[in-house]
Amino acid sequence: MGFGGMFKKLTVFAVMVTIMATSVAAQPKPGCQSHCGNIGIPYPFGTRKGCNIGSDFFINCNTSFNPPKAFLSDTEIEVLNISLDDVCNNVSDVINGSCSGIGCCQTAIPRGLQAYFFDFSSSRNHSSVLTFNPCSYVFIVEDGAYTFSTSDLSNLDFNKREYPLILDWTIGNQTCEEAKMDPKNYACKQNSACMDPESGPGYLCKCNHGFQGNPYLSIGCQDINECETLKPCNESGTCHNTLGSYNCSCPEGFKGDGQKNGTGCSPKPRRDNFSILVVALGIGLSIGLLFLIFGVGWLYRILQKRKYIKIKQKLFERNGGLLFQKKTSSNEGRLDKAELFSSKELEIATDQYNENRILGCGGQGMVYKGMLSDGRIVAVKKSKTVNEGYLEQFINEIFILSQIDHRNIVKLLGCCLETEVPLLVYEFIPNGTLSHLIHDENEEYPRSWDIRLRIAAEVASAISYLHSSASIPIYHRDIKSSNILLDEKFRAKVSDFGTSRSISIDQTHLTT
Ligand SMILES: *[C@@H]1O[C@H](CO)[C@@H](O)[C@H](O)[C@H]1NC(C)=O
Ligand SMILES: *[C@@H]1O[C@H](CO)[C@@H](O)[C@H](O)[C@H]1NC(C)=O
Ligand SMILES: *[C@@H]1O[C@H](CO)[C@@H](O)[C@H](O)[C@H]1NC(C)=O
Ligand SMILES: *[C@@H]1O[C@H](CO)[C@@H](O)[C@H](O)[C@H]1NC(C)=O
Ligand SMILES: *[C@@H]1O[C@H](CO)[C@@H](O)[C@H](O)[C@H]1NC(C)=O
Ligand SMILES: *[C@@H]1O[C@H](CO)[C@@H](O)[C@H](O)[C@H]1NC(C)=O
Ligand SMILES: *[C@@H]1O[C@H](CO)[C@@H](O)[C@H](O)[C@H]1NC(C)=O
Ligand SMILES: *[C@@H]1O[C@H](CO)[C@@H](O)[C@H](O)[C@H]1NC(C)=O
Ligand SMILES: *[C@@H]1O[C@H](CO)[C@@H](O)[C@H](O)[C@H]1NC(C)=O
Repeated sequence: MGFGGMFKKLTVFAVMVTIMATSVAAQPKPGCQSHCGNIGIPYPFGTRKGCNIGSDFFINCNTSFNPPKAFLSDTEIEVLNISLDDVCNNVSDVINGSCSGIGCCQTAIPRGLQAYFFDFSSSRNHSSVLTFNPCSYVFIVEDGAYTFSTSDLSNLDFNKREYPLILDWTIGNQTCEEAKMDPKNYACKQNSACMDPESGPGYLCKCNHGFQGNPYLSIGCQDINECETLKPCNESGTCHNTLGSYNCSCPEGFKGDGQKNGTGCSPKPRRDNFSILVVALGIGLSIGLLFLIFGVGWLYRILQKRKYIKIKQKLFERNGGLLFQKKTSSNEGRLDKAELFSSKELEIATDQYNENRILGCGGQGMVYKGMLSDGRIVAVKKSKTVNEGYLEQFINEIFILSQIDHRNIVKLLGCCLETEVPLLVYEFIPNGTLSHLIHDENEEYPRSWDIRLRIAAEVASAISYLHSSASIPIYHRDIKSSNILLDEKFRAKVSDFGTSRSISIDQTHLTT
């Protein structure tokens, strides 16, 4: 590892920067530049051809500097002042303490200079100033370490004096990148970083931020305890020193970053707790409200359901339901019982009493085709309002008819008493009425005499049964072709009797 030598911050005395010229007019040639920055440029000097007396008097005014700098001819010598006065030959011209170019001159040396050679001469071998200045000296010295004195002009022991100078150094002649590839010889140790100097080869090491010490020594860079050196935390906060850094924290109940330079530590405002309370209250209230809405909705539905059940119960009672139940329970053991249908069951069976399901309508009410949940096809008859005076009779007849089991009589399956109008449920007979068979010429029904006679005989058998064989004689009172239904084999089924009489006895009287 070697040292790359380089001089910096040094001042070289003896390089002429103030140009002395014999007395001429102290102004530029007409039409020529008079100044370069702060420096006046009198003829015979000039900044372009024709403005100076010759190429040696050319002043290169470089405007890329601010203020512009003047350079002598094509050299790198910067011109600081141009004087038209005589060359000094009397000690009284020399100014004590000022290295202005008379008796003493100075210049800075360029950055990165690695070697130097000085050459200076005296135009007349000091002959004109020999009385007070027999010798000239040139030397390099640290900037500011030497102050010129007129007595130095005549001091023959000047070369015995010593002045300090600064030697710049770096490690090796590689860049950081190159040096890092050779870990064995890499000079920067833990917690340090490599730096390329601004000029010249080699590299330097520097402790990382938050560390101090010698970066070229192993564990040379030590952590700085910022908590002690900087005291960066607010007095009420706590400082924690960390490797290469620190952090500040505030005590419980305080907020802020704890830094003196930052937000410090201030008590948490009560508003925070209050706003949490408000938010919690808001959430609580909204949840409560939600439950309330659901609860009310649920309660409403329950009440509606109850009301509906109550209405149904009321209708059931009004329509003689209790009487019906009494009769059915006392009828235990017998096979056929009139079934009690719920209003819902029949609503589903008839598809909400859909118009498409209407089988027929007459003086006694509408008849709908329906299908029960167990698959039975039924005819549901919606009668006219029951006269309350005949309720007992109505129920009684439902009961009796449900027990009639004759192949030529339409079977009553049951009823529904929960509705405004009692509903009767019969077995479904597919082939329409006898009236239809007789009168509708277009239909392709078999109308042979055999069939007609059989139908007549079957009807007669049914009436005979009702009149003589049933436990209680039943009088139909309304035998007509539209009340005789035909099944799939064109067998007669007497329908629409008895009950119709009970439902509206006055009307049946009219048609009897
Ligand atoms: C002026 O100075 C800059 C920087 O030193 C240099 O690059 C440039 O060539 C100079 N211009 C002239 C005209 O000398
Ligand atoms: C140049 O020198 C003259 C005379 O010595 C002085 O008056 C003037 O201020 C100097 N100019 C600069 C820019 O130093
Ligand atoms: C030097 O200057 C002083 C004052 O200006 C004068 O008295 C003296 O004679 C001069 N010396 C010479 C050798 O010219
Ligand atoms: C300059 O200063 C030195 C010492 O400080 C002194 O001996 C000398 O006489 C001074 N010269 C002038 C011209 O004032
Ligand atoms: C300059 O002066 C010195 C001593 O006074 C003398 O030895 C030398 O020859 C002179 N040089 C010239 C060029 O006159
Ligand atoms: C760098 O330094 C080494 C030894 O110090 C030397 O051998 C080598 O020639 C140098 N390289 C350059 C480019 O200066
Ligand atoms: C605080 O700020 C001042 C000025 O901005 C700065 O000088 C000081 O170093 C900072 N202190 C800390 C601990 O950051
Ligand atoms: C501050 O540093 C200490 C010690 O490393 C650590 O325990 C703590 O969590 C840090 N606090 C913060 C706010 O980073
Ligand atoms: C600590 O922080 C509080 C709140 O920001 C501030 O009022 C107080 O002046 C701070 N103390 C110091 C020493 O910075």
